[in-house]
Amino acid sequence: KTNILIDCDPGHDDVMAILLALANRDKLNILGVSTVAGNQTLDKVTLNLRKLYTYLGVKTPIAVGSDRPIIRQLQTGAFVHGESGLDGFDFPIPTVDVDFSNALLFMRDALINCDEKVVLIATGPLTNIGLLLRAFPEVREKIEYISLMGGSIYKGNVTPFAEYNIYADPEAAHIVFNSGIPIVMSGLDVTHKAYITNEDILELEKINGKVTGMCAKLLKFFTKFHMNEGYENFPLHDVCAVMYVLNKDIFKGQNLSVQIDTSDTLHRGRTAADLREWINHDDTNTFALLDIDRDKFIEILFDVFKKLDEE
Ligand code: BDR
Ligand code: CA
Repeated sequence: KTNILIDCDPGHDDVMAILLALANRDKLNILGVSTVAGNQTLDKVTLNLRKLYTYLGVKTPIAVGSDRPIIRQLQTGAFVHGESGLDGFDFPIPTVDVDFSNALLFMRDALINCDEKVVLIATGPLTNIGLLLRAFPEVREKIEYISLMGGSIYKGNVTPFAEYNIYADPEAAHIVFNSGIPIVMSGLDVTHKAYITNEDILELEKINGKVTGMCAKLLKFFTKFHMNEGYENFPLHDVCAVMYVLNKDIFKGQNLSVQIDTSDTLHRGRTAADLREWINHDDTNTFALLDIDRDKFIEILFDVFKKLDEE
């Protein structure tokens, strides 16, 4: 089994990423899930995780992380994910509690006490992971690689150049990308190819099981923002970060040297990739995912939702 830690800010697509991991516990040993302020405030995203776990009747350790970026003001993604950070579905009142009030200590202990290496999966701003690597550099050798959703080679979403997770906490991203730990980057280049359509959502709605029904309702909210923005297909960004760990063969990518723009200019939060052909790309910090077999992606994901309907 692959040992994983998930750091997230749920979030509609974060939830789908977590579902994918939960449904694959025969392959993944989920050491825990930590939360970070991003799509909504820390309190709200943590509540969302507790609600999800209560609804599903599952349990993995939950740890509470940072309530704001290292230096910057928190700018939430409420315009995408709603007031709760996970609008669209009425969850029951949560009975599942958090287990650890300090995600940094939790992650350090989980990493140090694990006999094997661990894959870190990050689907929110990189605040917790940046702070973890600064505070406890000894954990570095326990991390096999970091599979993160964030960044973009071609164009951004919150600004012309920057993707939200990196834009939100560029200093944290700078630490992570310069840590020496291999990075697998699911940036917008690939996540916009990992999309769901209205027809797909209709299919989930028709099945209307415990998880398929929940996902249909959540996705209907999630697509509202995207339709207003003129999108016809809806990227399930965060799912890519977990999908890569499970199904590497459905992705294509390229080794690239990526640096984070921490300036206060139009380029803030940009994942600046060195695309010059004559540069040696063998020893770079990042494997940037650029393409995905989208039909296979949806097939795997829908099998997961249907499987969870039965549990
Ligand atoms: C990222 O920002 C958030 O809104 C999503 O959950 C995803 O992690 C996409 O830019
Ligand atoms: Ca996210």
